[in-house]
Amino acid sequence: MSKKEQGVNVAATQLDNKMAKAKPVKMGWSTQQIKEITKSLNALLANYSVHYQKLRSFHWNVKGSDFFDLHEKFELQYTEALLHIDAIAERIRIFGEAHLSSLKQYLDVSEIKETTPELNSDLMVREMLSDYTILIKYMEDTVAVCSKHADSGTESMVKGYINKIETHHWMFSAFMAR
Ligand SMILES: [Fe+2]
Repeated sequence: MSKKEQGVNVAATQLDNKMAKAKPVKMGWSTQQIKEITKSLNALLANYSVHYQKLRSFHWNVKGSDFFDLHEKFELQYTEALLHIDAIAERIRIFGEAHLSSLKQYLDVSEIKETTPELNSDLMVREMLSDYTILIKYMEDTVAVCSKHADSGTESMVKGYINKIETHHWMFSAFMAR
């Protein structure tokens, strides 16, 4: 016997009739606000993606007495970068917008530039420090846009990344002070 037959009054949905039939709307930001937030996230995504590939390359190509330290450290870095990249792209999709996805798009937009893998270990670390400075700049830009539009979800996510990157910058700087 169904619940209806049992006389139990069960609502099919908590939505009223109009809401149940309406096309889902985006969260409470205007189209212009969403464009600004996701443009900033896409610029961060492009820079982070180029940085990620450099980490992979440095992990594979580092040589010399720093090999065991840096080979392992670069792997830790790119594993973290991959998680951040994933969350940034998904955040753009949460807003219903398109994220940059081709390597050409990343390279066209990214301020972080590719390098040859034929660098000595000191130059690899200096490249990382330079990349961190650029990443933090784009993260701060994203935080400013999100703060302006009261997007605390993206803001808190990116602030967490700033904290981590600043720690990496300190550690690699200390490594260079030998
Ligand atoms: Fe590996």
